Amino acid sequence: MAKQMILCLISIPLFSRALLPPPAVYLTPRAQRSLATATATATANSISKNDRMIKKKTKKQKSEEKKKAELLAVKRKKEKRRTRSEKEFGSTTSFEFDNNENHIPVLLGEVVDVFSSLNLRSFVDCTLGAAGHSSAIIQAHPELENYVGMDVDPVAHAKARAHIDALLHSHFHLKANTFLRNFKHIKSLLAEADPSLLHSGVDAILMDLGMSSMQVNNPERGFSVLANGPLDMRMDPQVTLKAEDILNCWPDTEVGRVLREYGEESNWRLLQNKIVQARLHGGLHSTGDLVDLIRNVTHGMRGGRQGWIKTATRVFQALRIAVNDELNTLEKSLNACFECLAPGGRLAVISFHSLEDRIVKQTFLNIIETDRGDGDVDVEERGGREIRKTEDESDAKEMWIRSMVHGRNGTILTKRPITPSEEEEKLNSRSRSAKLRVIERV
Ligand SMILES: C[S@@+](CC[C@H](N)C(=O)[O-])C[C@H]1O[C@@H](n2cnc3c(N)ncnc32)[C@H](O)[C@@H]1O
Ligand SMILES: *[C@@H]1O[C@H](CO)[C@@H](O)[C@H](O)[C@H]1NC(C)=O
Ligand SMILES: *[C@@H]1O[C@H](CO)[C@@H](O)[C@H](O)[C@H]1NC(C)=O
Repeated sequence: MAKQMILCLISIPLFSRALLPPPAVYLTPRAQRSLATATATATANSISKNDRMIKKKTKKQKSEEKKKAELLAVKRKKEKRRTRSEKEFGSTTSFEFDNNENHIPVLLGEVVDVFSSLNLRSFVDCTLGAAGHSSAIIQAHPELENYVGMDVDPVAHAKARAHIDALLHSHFHLKANTFLRNFKHIKSLLAEADPSLLHSGVDAILMDLGMSSMQVNNPERGFSVLANGPLDMRMDPQVTLKAEDILNCWPDTEVGRVLREYGEESNWRLLQNKIVQARLHGGLHSTGDLVDLIRNVTHGMRGGRQGWIKTATRVFQALRIAVNDELNTLEKSLNACFECLAPGGRLAVISFHSLEDRIVKQTFLNIIETDRGDGDVDVEERGGREIRKTEDESDAKEMWIRSMVHGRNGTILTKRPITPSEEEEKLNSRSRSAKLRVIERV
């Protein structure tokens, strides 16, 4: 133990790593290449078809065509399971993107749409970040009386607080409380901000999960695969557990479990062994050390020369989830947030990877309590709510709602999650894995 304590104090000089393009999201480069080959082959086939009608297709051509069909089927299936936003990117925002260091809010117009039909007296932002979403919602709802924001990151909290304060000059009647706290404490924070919020319930709550650009782009936080820094990865600097504690001190089976469950990493056992072996030589002390280890392990494996980036991304995700106890916190907090909603109030959640999205989807289904699948209904069947604006104030039908799931306790307004428009994905690569799900309380 004493040895490990000493290990944790060694600091490593910084060096910059060349920036590499982010990994593709929907098709791996291999899949893209084989799709391209398959397409080229298919085109060549149709041109020469008339000339060589009788000649049978070679086995290779057949298997390539089959591969192509399979890839297209997978792509279509993925598109079906979500609703790609058709909203014009940037259309609703009066938010200014001053420079690259700043966090660009994801699905901003879509989130504003989710609440635009509501008469918002109160709004809670569980993940302030740079207050991009909060600013847009405050500006879109001059009727707002009570605002509560929170973040565990002091840098984010300070930045967000400054943005909110600036808005208060033009929204002087707005009561705004912000907290440097974890959203799992939402109930006690609401009680602290204004007990009436707990009694009458909140009209709108937002959770925009994951990391902000301020966090990822600061090497000192240890979140980035591409820049060397300490093995930290804490969103909340008050918490004592860091990534290096897991790598250098946790039992080997626990290291393996983290990689397997939180990284969905198929090479978890090999990585676990290498990580534990590294302890014999003093352990891992920088994200650079960890990346080197991953590069060594994945060297010569499938996925080409840059295959290591994908493995590294999964390993970093796994450690981040473990350090911040993200999945347990999420499930508990979704329930707590729903319980804080007023009747007709809405909770919107943006997730950034499949483990998170699965929890949001499943917890929403559990919360609403569907009567064995009879819950699915079309938009038309839905009744009005007191909290909603009257028809001449807003569009009677909300265009962003495609299909819903009704339950005893609430309605899921996004049977399939909303994903960013193609344009947003192009302009903000961080948005590519984003999924927005919305639930409304009965
Ligand atoms: C993607 S950013 C939010 C960006 C923000 N919506 C904006 O538009 O600027 C996520 C933020 O949530 C914070 N966060 C993550 N987990 C949290 C938790 N359990 N409680 C409070 N804040 C959390 C992070 O520190 C980070 O600042
Ligand atoms: C990676 O491999 C190189 C060369 O084989 C070796 O010198 C280095 O120590 C290895 N690094 C780690 C972290 O395993
Ligand atoms: C659904 O609502 C009922 C009645 O208010 C409550 O007892 C139950 O706990 C709720 N279920 C969930 C999963 O929140």
